Amino acid sequence: MTTNWTPNHGQAFAPVPYRPERMPAEQSLHTAADLRARMDERRTVRMFSTDPVPEQAVLDAIAVASTAPSGAHQQPWTFVLVKNPEVRERIRAAAEEEERISYAGRLGDEWLDALRPLGTDDVKPHLTDAPALIVVFQQRFYLEPDGTTRKHYYVDESVGIAVGMLLTALHLAGLAALTHTPSPMKFLSEVLDRPRNEKAFAVIPVGYPADDCVVPDLVRKSLDQVLVVV
Ligand SMILES: Cc1cc2nc3c(=O)[nH]c(=O)nc-3n(C[C@H](O)[C@H](O)[C@H](O)COP(=O)(O)O)c2cc1C
Repeated sequence: MTTNWTPNHGQAFAPVPYRPERMPAEQSLHTAADLRARMDERRTVRMFSTDPVPEQAVLDAIAVASTAPSGAHQQPWTFVLVKNPEVRERIRAAAEEEERISYAGRLGDEWLDALRPLGTDDVKPHLTDAPALIVVFQQRFYLEPDGTTRKHYYVDESVGIAVGMLLTALHLAGLAALTHTPSPMKFLSEVLDRPRNEKAFAVIPVGYPADDCVVPDLVRKSLDQVLVVV
């Protein structure tokens, strides 16, 4: 699919009508309640089957993510879909090297305490077991082919929203995912040969849970614990 996207810097305001059909309230209630129940079933998976996933479903989820709102509509993201087993091996080796240092003390006691209930450690089999990795990069600034740069605005917020939509789309398509942030993530730019304006944001293994998959027994905050109505 091709689009006529170009950086919108300096373009004139060109409004077009937007008149989506209004959903009846009853249907909104039903749809929202259904989505709430389905999203409550989403869990971060760290134990993956090696079974392949339907690739188009992953591509569609990435396309969903790229519909996210973004500061000044700059869509400051790149999604690298890593299927190649050798590249996944290299990512795992580099990630485990960083994680060994992190878990050996770099994170500090408070962070390690916060992670304890999740049962995570420096061994990351999901990076090679899951059949695909989506490595999300933030475009910290826009880089013209001739090397000219332009500022991007609200990059963290924009990419965070896009990743939220990606995780939602993957889950609703029946796929499991993990938001993995091996720190520091500079090795991802090197292994994946990304340009200098891009910074890794997260590695998202995608697949199906292993037959013996377990997840931490977490309790989520209730709506009244996160909501203030004034
Ligand atoms: C920004 C962010 C970074 C995360 N980094 C990691 C990570 O590096 N490794 C990991 O195992 N889980 C990571 N997670 C997953 C969280 O631990 C998980 O979302 C949380 O424990 C809640 O579990 P749930 O997703 O099953 O509801 C991360 C999640 C987020 C949002």
